[in-house]
Amino acid sequence: MRIHKIAAIPADGIGPEVIAAGLEVLNALASHDGGFKFDIEHFPWSSDYYLEHGYYIPEGGLEQLKAFDAIFFGAVGSQQVPDHVSLWGLRLPIAQGFDQYANVRPARVLPGVQSPLKGGEDIDWVIVRENSEGEYAGNGGRTHRGLPIETATETAVFTRAGVERIHRFAFELAQKRPAKHLTLVTKSNAQRFGMVMWDEIFYEVAADFPDVKVDRELVDAVTTRMVLKPKTLDVIVATNLHADILSDLAAALSGSLGIGPTANLNPERAFPSMFEPIHGSAFDITGKGIANPVATFWTAAMMLEHLGEQGAAKRLMQAIEAVTADKVHTPDLGGKATTADVTRAVCEFIRAGK
Ligand code: NAI
Ligand code: MG
Repeated sequence: MRIHKIAAIPADGIGPEVIAAGLEVLNALASHDGGFKFDIEHFPWSSDYYLEHGYYIPEGGLEQLKAFDAIFFGAVGSQQVPDHVSLWGLRLPIAQGFDQYANVRPARVLPGVQSPLKGGEDIDWVIVRENSEGEYAGNGGRTHRGLPIETATETAVFTRAGVERIHRFAFELAQKRPAKHLTLVTKSNAQRFGMVMWDEIFYEVAADFPDVKVDRELVDAVTTRMVLKPKTLDVIVATNLHADILSDLAAALSGSLGIGPTANLNPERAFPSMFEPIHGSAFDITGKGIANPVATFWTAAMMLEHLGEQGAAKRLMQAIEAVTADKVHTPDLGGKATTADVTRAVCEFIRAGK
C-alpha cells in the first residue's frame, strides 16, 4: 500500500469548503483504486488563527510541514486582516521557504463549459510562473512615513540562477506537450535590466531544446493575443507578477476563476510542493455552499501526478470532465448546483469506475 502524507491547510473563506470537497474526492479515488491511501493532517492556520495568536504559522510550523509529501492549500485572505499581511503571513512563507519556484497554471475550457470568448474552445495553455523572486521578492521599504516626502520602493529581484531554472522548467514542460511551443513574456522594451536578462537567458536555455518552437511577446501584447488568437499560444513563461495577472485572465477566459488550478512545485523535491486553486477566499459566496470545487479537484489531479499516481490523476480528470459535460455547474458557470452536488457527482463517477 502506497501512503501519501498530505498536509491540508484550508485557511480562509471558501478555502475550507473546497478543501473538504477535494479531500472527499481524493479519498473516493483511494478507496476505488485500493493501491494507495492518504494520511491527511489538518493545519488550522488561517486568518482567524492569526487574530487569536498573532501569527499564521507557529514557530516550527514550516519544519513540521517538511515531513509531508504534499500540501493541499485552500485560500488565505480575510476582511479582518490586510491582504499583504495574510499573504506574507501564510502562503508566501511556504512557497518561498520551500523554494517552490515553479508555479504551473493550466487553463482549458472543460467540456460543457462556456468560455466568454468566441473561439474559447481553442484555449489549451499552461502558464509557468516564476514563483520565488522577481516583483514579489519582498525587497523594498518605506521611509519618511506619514511625511509629505514619504517614499516607498518595491524592488524586483532577478537572479541568473532563478531565471535560468524557471526557463529550463518551462522548456521541459513545453517539450512534453504535443505543440512543443513556448512563448516568452516580458516587458523588456520599458524595463531594461531584469527583463532584458530574462530574455537573454531564455535564448541561452533555448539552445538546449532545439525541438521546442519559441516566440516572444510583451506582456501587454500577450493579453490581446490571449483574447484574439488563443490558438496561437501553448506554454507561456513569465515573471511572478506578469504570470499572476495572465493566469487570472486565462481562468476567466476558460469559464470561471472557480476552475483554475495551480501547482507550486519544488521540482528537485527537496521540499514538499503545494497544490491550490488559483482563486482566493471569495467573501461574497463564503458559507453559501456554492463555491465551485472544480479548481480544487483539478489541482488535486496535479497533486496525484506529482505523487506518482498517474492512473488516479487521469481518472479524476475524466470524472471532472464528465461532470462538467453533464452540466452539473455551480452558479459561477451559470448553473444551480451546489459544491456538494458537484462533489457527489464526481465521487459517483469515480466509484462507478467508468
Ligand atoms: P477571489 O478569487 O476570492 O474572488 C473573485 C471573484 O471570483 C469573486 O466574485 C468570487 O466569488 C469568485 N470566485 C472565486 N473562486 C470561486 C469559486 N471557487 N467558485 C465560484 N466563484 C468563485 O479574489 P478576490 O476577491 O480578489 O480576493 C478575496 C481574498 O482572497 C483577498 O483577501 C485576497 O487577498 C485573497 N486571495 C488569496 C489567494 C490565495 O490564497 N492564493 C489568491 C487570490 C486572492
Ligand atoms: Mg493571483
